[in-house]
Amino acid sequence: MLTLLAIVGVVSHRTILGLIDDSQWVSHTHVVLELLQRVSFQVTQAEAAVRGFVITGNSSFEAQYLDDKQNIWPLISELRLGTSDNPNQQKIVSRLESLIKERFIVMDEGIQIRKSGGLNAVLAQSKNSRGPTLSLQISALVAQMRGEENRLLSERNLREQKSSSRAFVVALLAVFLAMAAVLGSVLLIFRDLTRGREVDRLKSEFVSIVSHELRTPLTSIHGSLGLLASGLLGGSAEKGKRMLEIAVNNTDRLIRLLNDILDIEKLESGKIQMHPLPCDSSELLSRAAEVMTPMAQDHHIAIHLSNSSKIINADPDRILQCLTNLLSNAIKFSEAGGIVIMRATPAGENLRFEVADQGRGIPLDKQEAIFERFQQVDASDSRRKGGTGLGLAITRSIVQQHGGKVWVESQMGKGSTFFFTVPLANTAGQIPTSESNSDAPIITATQ
Ligand SMILES: Nc1ncnc2c1ncn2[C@@H]1O[C@H](COP(=O)(O)OP(=O)(O)O)[C@@H](O)[C@H]1O
Ligand SMILES: [Mg+2]
Repeated sequence: MLTLLAIVGVVSHRTILGLIDDSQWVSHTHVVLELLQRVSFQVTQAEAAVRGFVITGNSSFEAQYLDDKQNIWPLISELRLGTSDNPNQQKIVSRLESLIKERFIVMDEGIQIRKSGGLNAVLAQSKNSRGPTLSLQISALVAQMRGEENRLLSERNLREQKSSSRAFVVALLAVFLAMAAVLGSVLLIFRDLTRGREVDRLKSEFVSIVSHELRTPLTSIHGSLGLLASGLLGGSAEKGKRMLEIAVNNTDRLIRLLNDILDIEKLESGKIQMHPLPCDSSELLSRAAEVMTPMAQDHHIAIHLSNSSKIINADPDRILQCLTNLLSNAIKFSEAGGIVIMRATPAGENLRFEVADQGRGIPLDKQEAIFERFQQVDASDSRRKGGTGLGLAITRSIVQQHGGKVWVESQMGKGSTFFFTVPLANTAGQIPTSESNSDAPIITATQ
């Protein structure tokens, strides 16, 4: 942008110099035209003075004539100087000068004859005087020079017009560019400022949420252990056990939270690399179901797998992490007796995983937000359901790093289905296993 501005600066400087030059030439032509006018006026005036003297014999006419005669030569010199750029005009000036000289010689003679022989002598001599011919020649030369100057004038006027419109365009361009540069820099500074502020805001929001999340279980642990230590429980083994259980549960929650925070931090800062390799989708689904079976049993939820085996190109541990996250949510937010279905179906070059529940559903306005850190539909979800609010953010980060997408479709009161895609391996094809294309539930965790 700066280089462009510099170029426009140089161009406008040149254009303006050109414009000044052109307008100087125009005024120069005007000066020459005016000089021609004055030369022809001086000659005509001298002729009139001679005529006056010849007719009246009055010496004031002679004085006027001598004045005119004296004044004409500086004008001719100026004319010569003024046309020095044009060799043609110079030639004409020389001819004009000699004609005018000759004309003045004839007029001098006229005055002398009038003085020595009176009016009649002049009238007798005037029949063969060269005076009128010379006057005509002088006028013709002046007209010729004027014609040439007028031609030059229109030529130079045109050039001046052209360079002034060019100068206008260049100046306009310069103004636009300068404005764009100023606007651009203001926007850049503004963007940097807002970006900086946004980062600061996110940081402080993160710190406040994390400290809040840590404080709740710690307070609870502190309370339970404090009660035990105070001996207020009066040696009741049952109550003591209950307090210890609360402390252990909360410690678990703390560990989960810290693990999730570390995970999302590493994932989002790119410290965790994905190691994609060809792996079998049905194996991943079975393993996820297996891992989550104890939780499903606790909540009286049945897990159904509907799966045909496909080979995907993905980091198996990370995809398992996504599946268990989604599965744990599906279980948590379902009523006892509910069914959770997991399946994977090819979609173009991808395999689309689905985890569908019949739980409470997610309001439309939260269906995007829940993928952000610590975003929960209900503020009490983390406390009542034991979550951290980071599971979906982690899932999204992993899926995106595989080049896939994650989203949810949900109806309040009817259930939610979470989808995510991962690329199929190039050598995509069915693995010849006994589980292939089996649509039957392979794990049922209902009691
Ligand atoms: N299957 C689901 N049914 C209803 N709500 C869900 C489901 N999965 C996620 N949610 C909502 O999205 C929020 C964020 O989920 P997540 O990021 O996994 O955090 P957490 O499970 O730790 O609360 C949950 O707290 C819950 O409000
Ligand atoms: Mg979760």
